[in-house]
Amino acid sequence: MDMQEQLRKIQEDAKQQIEKITDKAGLDALRLKMLGKKGDLTLLLRSMGQVPAEERPKVGQMINVVREHLTAQMDELDAKIKKMEQEKKLARESIDVTEPREHTAIGCVHPVSLVQDQLCKVFTGMGFDVVEGPEVELDLFNFELLNLPKNHPARDAQDTFYIEDNIVLRTHTSPVQARTMLSRKPPIRIVCPGRVYRADEVDATHSPVFHQMEGLVIDEDVTMADLKGTLDAFAKNLYGDDVTTRFRPSFFPFTEPSAEVDLTCVNCHGKGCRVCKGTGWIEVLGAGMVNPKVLDMCGIDSKKYSGFAFGVGLERIAMLRYGITDLRLFYEGDVRFLSQFRDD
Ligand code: PHE
Repeated sequence: MDMQEQLRKIQEDAKQQIEKITDKAGLDALRLKMLGKKGDLTLLLRSMGQVPAEERPKVGQMINVVREHLTAQMDELDAKIKKMEQEKKLARESIDVTEPREHTAIGCVHPVSLVQDQLCKVFTGMGFDVVEGPEVELDLFNFELLNLPKNHPARDAQDTFYIEDNIVLRTHTSPVQARTMLSRKPPIRIVCPGRVYRADEVDATHSPVFHQMEGLVIDEDVTMADLKGTLDAFAKNLYGDDVTTRFRPSFFPFTEPSAEVDLTCVNCHGKGCRVCKGTGWIEVLGAGMVNPKVLDMCGIDSKKYSGFAFGVGLERIAMLRYGITDLRLFYEGDVRFLSQFRDD
């Protein structure tokens, strides 16, 4: 076979293969076979020694033309393959927006948070600000400024977790009252939701950590009637128009006079049932007129201003609202329990 014929054969060979190649690996193999160190064209060039000297320039040129031609063809194929691969990739990654999605679990709001949010809404609707305070609290705010001096017997009523001599885990949300009175001027209208701590044994109605919401109003001429009106509005908003409040005399060092506040039983609407133990009433709040001593200690002139305060347990409200009978359920994190509650 002379050189020309060999060249033609190589060209023919390459043409056939190029038609069949569909991927990069095939193309690379062909490049190697034609143009690599031991490739067909390379070997042909090496055998130029056998060609008579006068024909060498002509044959050399022919080989070069074929090489350029092949290179161009292979480059073209390379571009085509790249495009195809890109298209394949796009097709693979395209998203069918009409395809039904897999089931994903959606979280839900904890029932105590639901109640807290709703109470905040009711009170902000009445013009109250929501204020928060620290859970690790100074004795000063948790007790002293609330008229609970050291060795006051009422301190025993709240089994306190002490961090240090003068630092406690707050036993109620009332310290936020003291903090607010010291930092704001009347008129003051705030609610303070948050976690509180008491060294109680866990049972169906006790937990060492629970939630309260404190309310405080201070202005000129604030009376017990304002307290009653505010709590009535809160009760009706939460449980319906036929629910009202009943005040019973009580004692808190930081309020004078003080009251335990009952709501019409939300279960039987006052007729008497198991939930209210036949009385038609359920105790839910502590409240009273802010003790003038507390006002003065917190820098508010008790001759000019008066105020009322109340505190409510959020778990208690949630238990009544959702008919839950065991407090422990709130803290066990059982999704089957927690996912039942929705805002309505
Ligand atoms: N801080 C009281 C408690 O935790 C509740 C309360 C708040 C009572 C405000 C009166 C006024 O028991």
